[in-house]
Amino acid sequence: MKVMILGKYTIEIPQEQGKPITNKRFIGSPYAGYLKGRLSDISNESFIIEHITRLIAKEHKVNTIIEYFGGLGICSKIFQAILKPHRHIIIDWDTNCFETLRTNLGNLNGVELLNQNAMKYRLNDFVDLAFLDFDKFSVLHLDERADVNRWFNNIFSWSKYILISDSSIAKFHLNKQTYRDLFDKTINSFEDYLSCFSNYLFGLYGYHIGYCYHFSRCSFLLIARRYQSLQEMKKFNEKKHVKLIGSR
Ligand SMILES: C[S@@+](CC[C@H](N)C(=O)[O-])C[C@H]1O[C@@H](n2cnc3c(N)ncnc32)[C@H](O)[C@@H]1O
Repeated sequence: MKVMILGKYTIEIPQEQGKPITNKRFIGSPYAGYLKGRLSDISNESFIIEHITRLIAKEHKVNTIIEYFGGLGICSKIFQAILKPHRHIIIDWDTNCFETLRTNLGNLNGVELLNQNAMKYRLNDFVDLAFLDFDKFSVLHLDERADVNRWFNNIFSWSKYILISDSSIAKFHLNKQTYRDLFDKTINSFEDYLSCFSNYLFGLYGYHIGYCYHFSRCSFLLIARRYQSLQEMKKFNEKKHVKLIGSR
């Protein structure tokens, strides 16, 4: 099976290593069912990542990238095409994802694929861009455990730009009180959350959130020392840029 994204990025999904899926069109693919239910999310995510990648490319020459949660490598393909990094480390602990990363990116110059727990990986050299595409994340994760904080500390110490996916927007209305308690401020809107989150990051690391692009289920935050405050926040609704191409 192949996934075609934004009409120009192709991801080949290799044969499943675990239990076979019997969906008629996508027999033998581990992610067919999963992907079918997520086409609109993946479309929005890819559109936003491409937008942000172009924005970074205008500001800075990106030589090194680390992606902590590589997944299928959709974002990796976008970074490769636009930024053409010299070194691109991509981590994922899932065997099927890792196999997909290897199929699609394994033979590219400068790409290093790691099949391990990303939260145990420590940088010891500068990177231009660190991308943290979590399955689920909000500011609450930063306040969680000492080992998570040490991991974040390491990332902020070595990275020029940090791009984080934040899923809090999906259930924001249910969690306002939790954020109010954390920040000890009035939080009525997602803008309030961003502003407090940005000040929180500035207090901890000297970095601010410069851009926030989102759709209904997830936002992507571009964070760097060079930003003094939020430059732009924008909502996207780009549901139709992903196609599954069956293989039988
Ligand atoms: C939201 S997906 C990333 C999607 C990816 N950006 C793409 O373009 O396909 C998150 C990925 O993180 C991986 N993951 C979650 N926790 C991890 C961990 N602690 N270490 C390594 N990988 C992890 C999951 O296996 C999953 O593939």
